[in-house]
Amino acid sequence: MLTHLPLSALSDTQALRAHIAQWKSEGLRVGFVPTMGALHAGHISLIETALRHADRVVASIFVNPTQFAPGEDFDSYPRTLEADAQKLVEAGCHLLYAPLASDMYPQGFATTVSLDGPALELETEFRPHFFAGVATVVSKLFQRVRPDVAVFGQKDFQQLRVIERMTLDLDLDIEIMGAPTLREDDGLALSSRNAYLSAQERQTAAQLYAILNELKDRLEAGKPLSECLFQAREKAQSVFDSVDYIAVRDEATLSAIEAHGARPARALGAVKLGRTRLIDNLPVHGLNQG
Ligand code: PAF
Repeated sequence: MLTHLPLSALSDTQALRAHIAQWKSEGLRVGFVPTMGALHAGHISLIETALRHADRVVASIFVNPTQFAPGEDFDSYPRTLEADAQKLVEAGCHLLYAPLASDMYPQGFATTVSLDGPALELETEFRPHFFAGVATVVSKLFQRVRPDVAVFGQKDFQQLRVIERMTLDLDLDIEIMGAPTLREDDGLALSSRNAYLSAQERQTAAQLYAILNELKDRLEAGKPLSECLFQAREKAQSVFDSVDYIAVRDEATLSAIEAHGARPARALGAVKLGRTRLIDNLPVHGLNQG
C-alpha cells in the first residue's frame, strides 16, 4: 500500500527503484498507470485494469511541463495530491510515485523522443509540442518503474497509439493496454479538465459524444464518409466555440482513410468550449462486421 513509503519519500526515485527491484526479485509482475493527477473514476478504472494484469501496481502523478505549450493550462492544471493518494489507497494501488520536475528534467536536460506515424496530424496539428513531451516523460517513467504492463486510457486514443508505437520501436518490452473510456450519464467522457466547465458549458459538453456517436452510426449504416464528416463538422461548429478536428481514421494506424470500408476505424474529435478543450473518440466497426 502507499504507506510503504512515508509521504516525503513519494518523490524519491531511489526508493521507487528499491521497491521495484524487491518485487522483481520475488518474481512479481509490475503494472504501471502514469497520470497527471486530479484523479477521477476513469483513472481508477485504469488502476483496476492494471491490478487484474499485475501483482503490484504503481501509479505516477506528474504534471509534465514539456507537454504544455506556453499559454496552455500548465499553471492552472488541478493539483490534488492528497485526495489522489487517498483514492489510490482505496483502489488498492501499491505505490504512488510523484517525482519532482527538477528530478525529471535536471539542469542540462537535452533529449526528446522524436515521433512519426500515429503522432502525425490530429492533436499534433493543434498541439505540436504535445506528443514529444508525452513520449519523453513516459519513456523516462518506464525506465524508472520498469513495468511489465502499462495501462493508458482510450480517451486519449492518439496518445495510446503513439505510446504503443514508441514501445515497439524502442524495444521497451512492456505490454501496453488501452482501457475503455468512462462516461457521465449523458455520454461526456470523464476528464480532469471537465473541472474547468461552467454549469452551462457542462450541458453543452456532452454534445461532442452525441456528434461522434451519430457519425459512427451513419458510417456503420453505410453512408458515405465525406457526407458524414461534413454533417458532423457542421453540427460541431454550431455547438462549440471552435472545432479543432472531427476525423475518421484507420483504427490501428490512425492513417487517413478515403472511405469507410471493411477495416475498423475510429471517429475522433477535439473542440473548444470556453477555456476548456474537449477530446473524445469512438470505435467505428467495419462495414462487414455488423
Ligand atoms: O495522459 C496523461 O495523463 C499524460 O499525457 C501522461 C501519459 C501521464 C504523460 O504525462
